[in-house]
Amino acid sequence: RVMTNLKMAREGGTVAGEVTFTESGGEVAVVAHITGAPPGMHGFHVHEGGECSSPDFTSAGGHFDPTDMPHGAPSDMERHAGDLGNVEVAEDGTANHEASSSMLTVAAGPSSVVGRGVILHEDPDDMVTQPTGAAGGRIACGASKVL
Ligand code: CU
Ligand code: ZN
Repeated sequence: RVMTNLKMAREGGTVAGEVTFTESGGEVAVVAHITGAPPGMHGFHVHEGGECSSPDFTSAGGHFDPTDMPHGAPSDMERHAGDLGNVEVAEDGTANHEASSSMLTVAAGPSSVVGRGVILHEDPDDMVTQPTGAAGGRIACGASKVL
């Protein structure tokens, strides 16, 4: 298993959470537990870099894209490996989200999530706009590491 701890974006920010990636049978299951986020849909991606040090989290780079694809929806054949779609946050600010991807691995290799950043965005991912899905600012960031 690989665990990502999401931390708050900026001073006074409240978003926290954890994301786990578990690989089996050629699929990686993604389970996210988030608290303190604004209700609604928020873009959710694996980003290339595992560096969350800059206050706006741009230090994590762009979407993780080891196969040089356009941005897309999790159901699209052509998409970034890091495209996990949206997380829906409930009125109480929490989300318990499950997704899966056949384009990521936990095991070492070019598509491994280990050392990558996981980002929750301010706005919904429209799954169309290149190369970001127009998901706006980054409200939480965490680096994936092996438990
Ligand atoms: Cu993103
Ligand atoms: Zn993307």
